[in-house]
Amino acid sequence: MDKITVPRIREKKENGEKITVLTAYDFPFAKLIDEAGIDILLVGDTVGIVVQGEESTLPVTLDQMIYHARMVSRAAKRALVVGDMPFLSYQASIEETIRNAGRFLKEGGAAAVKLEGGARVADRIEMLARHDIPVMAHIGLTPQSVHRMGGYKVQGRGTSQAKQLLADAKTVESAGAFSLVLEGIPISLAKKITQSIKIPTIGIGAGPYCDGQVLVLHDLLGLFTRFHPKFVRRYADLTATITEAVRRYKSDVESGKFPTEEEGYE
Ligand code: KIV
Repeated sequence: MDKITVPRIREKKENGEKITVLTAYDFPFAKLIDEAGIDILLVGDTVGIVVQGEESTLPVTLDQMIYHARMVSRAAKRALVVGDMPFLSYQASIEETIRNAGRFLKEGGAAAVKLEGGARVADRIEMLARHDIPVMAHIGLTPQSVHRMGGYKVQGRGTSQAKQLLADAKTVESAGAFSLVLEGIPISLAKKITQSIKIPTIGIGAGPYCDGQVLVLHDLLGLFTRFHPKFVRRYADLTATITEAVRRYKSDVESGKFPTEEEGYE
């Protein structure tokens, strides 16, 4: 079993091999995903929405992210673990960015970090890369910018926004990012960006022409049902499976069917 590394991810684009990415937030799910052969486990700040029950990713703290990264890293024997830098952990200064990103590697066991933004965070990406902290950049519909965008809306539809996103992609590549998440942008723009840069693009709601795809695990498993974006394909309905299991347990306890004498000690 070959461990997935940052150079291996770059090599996948060169070889035309698709890159698979899923979010993970805890040990049991991370172990299953790792054993299923997914390349990258992204400890996403979506933990705030799908696990903590928040309305956005903004309340998630760095300490919470490190806590989740640590659990995921313990489970990841093959996959590359990437820690997502939460809101306000890289905005204030370059020094703070390096210290906070470093915590993902030192304490969280991650091999890389992800941060949102294009040209405006290029100085952060450059410094992190220079200090051997590999960076996955993220442009388009960046959820931490929800208030600027006025909601979770597709980005890059007009010509000037599309030009800006293409320029952002080239800037983060020059700054030293090893990969780039493209979220919530038109298919044609994602295709153009993917063809214009050498680092791999990882799409979410960005169509089929990216070098890889990422989904939020709880969306894919049907565990998060508050809303269902068009780009999410549900591969399971764990909400139904878990509800049914819990109902059967309740009914068995209430009717005296659980536990039996065989399920107890002499
Ligand atoms: O936080 C996250 O899970 C993400 C992915 C959806 C790309 O940023």
